[in-house]
Amino acid sequence: MCGIIGYCGPKPMANVLVEALKRMEYRGYDSAGIAVRSGSELTVIKRAGKIAALREAVPAEIPGDCGIGHTRWATHGGVTDHNAHPHLDASGKVAVVHNGIIENYAVLREKLSADGVEFKSETDSEVIAHLIGRLYEGDLTATVQQVVQLLKGTYGIAVLHIDEPGTVVGARNGSPLVLGIGEHEMFLASDVTAILGHTKQAIYLEDGEVVTVTADEYRTTDLNDRKIDKNIQIINWELEEIEKGGYQHYMEKEIFEQPDSITRAMQGRLDHENATGHLGGLNMTKKELLDLERVKIIAAGTSYYAGLVASYLIESIARIPCTVELAAEVRYRNPIVERNSVYFAVSQSGETADTLYAMRELQRKGARVLGICNVVGASIPRESDGGVYIHSGPEIAVASTKAFTSQLTALYIFTLLIARMRHMSLEEGTRFVQALEEVPERVSEVLQSAPAIAELARKYHSARSFLFLGRGINYPVAFEGALKLKEISYIHAEGYSAAEVKHGPIALIGPETPSLFLVPDDALREKVISNMKEVQARDGRVIAVCVEGDHEVAALADDVIMVPKVHELMYPFVMTVPLQLFAYYTALELGRNVDQPRNLAKSVTVE
Ligand code: G6P
Repeated sequence: MCGIIGYCGPKPMANVLVEALKRMEYRGYDSAGIAVRSGSELTVIKRAGKIAALREAVPAEIPGDCGIGHTRWATHGGVTDHNAHPHLDASGKVAVVHNGIIENYAVLREKLSADGVEFKSETDSEVIAHLIGRLYEGDLTATVQQVVQLLKGTYGIAVLHIDEPGTVVGARNGSPLVLGIGEHEMFLASDVTAILGHTKQAIYLEDGEVVTVTADEYRTTDLNDRKIDKNIQIINWELEEIEKGGYQHYMEKEIFEQPDSITRAMQGRLDHENATGHLGGLNMTKKELLDLERVKIIAAGTSYYAGLVASYLIESIARIPCTVELAAEVRYRNPIVERNSVYFAVSQSGETADTLYAMRELQRKGARVLGICNVVGASIPRESDGGVYIHSGPEIAVASTKAFTSQLTALYIFTLLIARMRHMSLEEGTRFVQALEEVPERVSEVLQSAPAIAELARKYHSARSFLFLGRGINYPVAFEGALKLKEISYIHAEGYSAAEVKHGPIALIGPETPSLFLVPDDALREKVISNMKEVQARDGRVIAVCVEGDHEVAALADDVIMVPKVHELMYPFVMTVPLQLFAYYTALELGRNVDQPRNLAKSVTVE
């Protein structure tokens, strides 16, 4: 979604602001802008397009003592210079950047227009600047506290005023805002990646909080100006982790990092002696775990598919009913919270609005919601009743890859833990632990097929549409493979159960629509082979992802991607990675912007 930066300090303004925006470009990237305050001057530069367009427009030096910046993912109003932030009030003294959606903006805009205010953009955000401008009486913090009470909806804002030297005021409701504390400099940002190159000390603002920042001081308050003491947290990411490190794209780097990221997700969490999992952050007693009668998972996008894979595992080895639901649907259907149930909110960013709001509604109904998140200190882990960090390191490419396999790892360990408390024997547990620990090695082997998969992408990249087909625990992997391909190559792709094809999608089969079958050597292998034959009988081209040495499938399919043999429940890991690579190389063939595909945002903080 949109990225926000605010800066008070001695460093060159243009550089600090534009670099921070560049770091956050992955959040949203259709336009960008900055405003810098100096004496009685406000320098405002805005450009539609990527940060590169803004960078070209910004002079190397803009004198100033504070500044704000914004990278936009359009919600209200098209992608134009005018609609880019910062927005100014009528006097030109106030500049505001905003992330979120002001739901009552139309009413506010009407009132302001009736009072003679002329709007320069079509955005919802501009009303904030005008309201601040009109209500300002010499105290920016007080004005912001007053104005945000007039707003309905979500916001993370950073504001500056010509009459308040070296000061930026921020406020948050529903959209993330973090304060970075440096040596004689302070930052406000919607994302820690923006400030990581400057400081590791951070304070995460909560909803309803306002912060006033100068180069040497900060003050956090509620909306009634009561002081709030906040804890400083240390950001545990390194700068190198948000660089490309020799890879052409972040997505490529993140795919190749998976042997390490999966290892990190399991580190210290496997108890070999007792063949079980150890997850300290769940905040659940043994009795509560033992009493569990239902597991429910809520998530969006790729995280939802990780939840679907886990549901197969949880039901098959822990024998506890598990349902998975799109978070956006949960919130508005008055969900029923059952006794002895636990919910997982799975979210890489920990900020996805659909997931966060669903979680809050469930908590209001008394649910225990645990987070499975990557970004430490994000809203979901902060507000959840416990959970697991997946420790993938920053995931910058919009299309999620390493977070998916790490989410699986965390959910697999949780499943092991509850399975061992129920039906799973010590021997089975030991086999499961060994199998899980082998996954990083097996994923490394899969990555060696990258050149062969790139070759396949060259062969198939002109297809108009793709079917991804799997069964059982690999059925959700088909969804994830299809999602990756459509996200970054813009080729239409659908995931289906291989069995379901004959009930409709088979009508799509023809030379233009290849199918990618997932064929592990599990109990459903024969059935999947039959489904493959049905497709081939209708002139459908078939790529099979099968197990090394499976000559029968290799002989049947037009093309194959071989993966190593693993424990049958570990196939989702080794089957996902080739699909990520296939999407990546196909997008490269088509000349797509792999890391920042059109229309998408990494972290969707609006509903
Ligand atoms: C956006 C991203 C997807 C992601 C989804 C959920 O739509 O583009 O890649 O899977 O949000 O994000 P989360 O951070 O909650 O896992």
